[in-house]
Amino acid sequence: MINSANFTDKDQPYKTVFFETFGCQMNKLDAELSLGLLQEDGYKIVDKVDDADVILFNTCSVRQHAEDKVYSHLGALKTLKKRHPEVIVGVLGCMAQKDGEAIFKRMPHVDLVCGTRMFSRLPEMLLKIRNHGSHVLAIDEDQIVNVKRAVTYRPNFYQAFVTVMRGCDNYCSYCIVPYVRGREISRTIADIKEEVQSLVSNGCKEVTLLGQNINSYGKGLDGNVTLGDLLSELDDLDGLDRIRFVTSHPADMSRDLIRTMSRLEKVCEYLHMPAQSGSDEVLKRMRRGYTAGYYREFVRYARELIPHLTVASDFIVGFPGETEEDFQETVQLMEDLRFQNCFIFKYSPRTGTKAAELKDDVPDETKRARNLKLLELQKKISLEENTKMIGKKVGVLVEGASKSDPNRLSGRTRQNHIVVFNGSQELVGKLVGVLIHEVTDLTLFGKLTSCL
Ligand code: SAH
Ligand code: SF4
Ligand code: F3S
Repeated sequence: MINSANFTDKDQPYKTVFFETFGCQMNKLDAELSLGLLQEDGYKIVDKVDDADVILFNTCSVRQHAEDKVYSHLGALKTLKKRHPEVIVGVLGCMAQKDGEAIFKRMPHVDLVCGTRMFSRLPEMLLKIRNHGSHVLAIDEDQIVNVKRAVTYRPNFYQAFVTVMRGCDNYCSYCIVPYVRGREISRTIADIKEEVQSLVSNGCKEVTLLGQNINSYGKGLDGNVTLGDLLSELDDLDGLDRIRFVTSHPADMSRDLIRTMSRLEKVCEYLHMPAQSGSDEVLKRMRRGYTAGYYREFVRYARELIPHLTVASDFIVGFPGETEEDFQETVQLMEDLRFQNCFIFKYSPRTGTKAAELKDDVPDETKRARNLKLLELQKKISLEENTKMIGKKVGVLVEGASKSDPNRLSGRTRQNHIVVFNGSQELVGKLVGVLIHEVTDLTLFGKLTSCL
């Protein structure tokens, strides 16, 4: 364990870092915060493993596949490490928290294992390894992460993700997150407001607030603070155009929050609220705390109050005991609620969770077939919904060049549609009007009509 907080390493001539991130948005933001810290400490970020003095993987444990990928990447570094033993190899994040010491046993060429609550001390840990050549294991769960953000380091100048809470207390039966991210801890409104204010002063126009279970934000803070209170405070910030928040848990959703959303000008008409299944029996075994009927009714209420609201969801197929009838109920839910976008996953048992005690009895080919069926259904729905946008003028915050066509611009509507259109680079970061004339299931294409 590392025990001194007073190392500095500013004068080292060489320091390059290669950093790869797996997993959810929260992990990506932790990567961004870590890289900000390392840059301040004099590191240069490189995009080839061969150019790096330090190679770091920020890892995910949510499904077996995510872990397998990291172990295979780590295995591939064995020969490099043999040739260059001075290169530091580190494993960060959720898999580091979960597997801890075992990673050194399985991959003896790894130098650093740093869990989900310790990454703010990366620079000193790396220095310690370099100076003493020793392994560092840092997986203390009781740490409270408070990173002074380097606001100038972010992938997109006009948008930023902001962590408002860490951890999860929900313990859905299939999910490893509470075990690797620890208990829920909310940051104070003052802290968050200060961070958002400094991002806005630095040019940021849109923030997405992050929490694994964001609508329970405020639990444990003084004075019965809620996500609605946080949104109201941020809505007052001059210079900020848009606020989003993810991910919402249906059981923690309140009608009060929907009313607040509908009232606040900057809060976008978009909800990512995973349903996971359309079958009450499966939802019960998943320990989700709501029924499909409740979920449907909540979406109906939200859509009634917030015109043009789009809803995105996650689904798990092949959960233990999921019958064909259960699956058809999921299909029906998807058909009825017409989500804008869905992430669909094959169930993957995670050791230590409640569901891992149940028999993983849905054969892999059934999981695969169900996964494909939902993907196809969602694709069809997305295309149909997007087609309804043809002929409409939408407001777009321009993010930059389109990934598929660098000669065109790309941005998003408040409802989180991706819009691609012709326009000059000066429009990046501006709100513009675009008339939609063509669509696919993933993208709207249009013509610039005005600056808003
Ligand atoms: N906090 C979010 C989701 C976090 S994990 C929420 O509660 O909605 C992201 C998604 O991964 C989940 O919504 C779920 O659909 C999926 N997932 C989690 N554990 C899984 C497992 N063991 N197997 C397959 N998918 C899983
Ligand atoms: Fe996992 Fe459930 Fe927590 Fe989401 S709410 S992170 S699915 S335990
Ligand atoms: Fe994966 Fe950890 Fe996110 S397990 S989904 S990276 S919280």
